[in-house]
Amino acid sequence: MSSLPNVNWSYPTSVRFGVGRIKELPAAVQAAGMSNPLLVTDPGLAGLPMVADAVASLKAAGLGVEVFSNVKPNPIDANIEAGVAAYKMGKHDGVIAFGGGSGLDAGKLIAFMSGQTRPIWDFEDIGDWWTRADPAGIAPIVAVPTTAGTGSEVGRAGVVTNSATHTKKVIFHPKMLPAIVICDPELTAGMPKMITVGTGMDALAHCLEAYSSPFYHPMSQGIALEGMRLVFENLPKVAANGSDLEARGHLMSAAAMGAVAFQKGLGAIHSLSHPVGALYDTHHGMTNAVFMPYVLQFNKPAIEAKFERLAGFLGFQGGYQGVLDAILKLREDLGVPHTLAGLNVDGEKRDLIAEMAIVDPTAGGNPVELTKDGALEIFDKALAGTV
Ligand SMILES: [Fe+2]
Repeated sequence: MSSLPNVNWSYPTSVRFGVGRIKELPAAVQAAGMSNPLLVTDPGLAGLPMVADAVASLKAAGLGVEVFSNVKPNPIDANIEAGVAAYKMGKHDGVIAFGGGSGLDAGKLIAFMSGQTRPIWDFEDIGDWWTRADPAGIAPIVAVPTTAGTGSEVGRAGVVTNSATHTKKVIFHPKMLPAIVICDPELTAGMPKMITVGTGMDALAHCLEAYSSPFYHPMSQGIALEGMRLVFENLPKVAANGSDLEARGHLMSAAAMGAVAFQKGLGAIHSLSHPVGALYDTHHGMTNAVFMPYVLQFNKPAIEAKFERLAGFLGFQGGYQGVLDAILKLREDLGVPHTLAGLNVDGEKRDLIAEMAIVDPTAGGNPVELTKDGALEIFDKALAGTV
């Protein structure tokens, strides 16, 4: 049993946190103003009892509901178009975004696009393009995360792949922030160990890169600190015992905190991980975990002083080196590959990867300017295993 409390938070949105709180889904859906939601999830989850149970509870409460699960692991434009068509066909009045990163992002994007007239690419996260959207055409969203990593349940953006150009685009609008989130750690308990590890390392990467980025955002800075502590303390516990709901709950918190923290910026871990993921279809969080120590070493001159404080907070001896050693040990204990070879990535596309990394939207948040030579240096070290 877990000794986690059931709590309600109002930051950054309305969050109902605690074991078993999925049973409040019908109430949350009604509170968000829906009577006939479209539940968006991925095909894997759609066949699991947790989705069947959610649908049954909604129907028992007198709500209309349909499930849309034509969503790829990395959602593409056609998935969003099909979802919007299903939304209109079923005359739905809101979306339940249910799942890991793909279900959450697809659900948010379907809700966003349900009442827009312009193409989705007009709303890419560039400058003030989001103001092109008609806010009245954005359907309400209730989010139910089933992994602890992406943090998309408390984010205002969704990622979709342009199937013509094979590039991932971030679509942003403040109203894409879900109105209500249900964080029930029990929903993450069935995750395979390596997905748990990968998603947990993604949350750590979000906090670590936000903390390292040079921009002024003390709120995010503070959130990143506690998020890192929660991952260091709880990811090993969950890896050892997948049914430790208390530790799983802390990881869910850390995931949400990572997404709040990275409003401050991400960095070269994500800049390199994105092209490697796009070209080799590797797991996002696991790819971040591989790159993590090599990027820290690259950034060392800019982050050393900041990491003295981080080491103190986390209780590690030795300042910057202490944090680096702890990350190396955490990776090893969790079975994260030390080199890119462990992800079946070779050096053949190193040039292309470096070119894609430096134009990735996250590159601007890296504390040391990410040049092509720099990206090649990090990539080659991650290939050779030279920290
Ligand atoms: Fe990430």
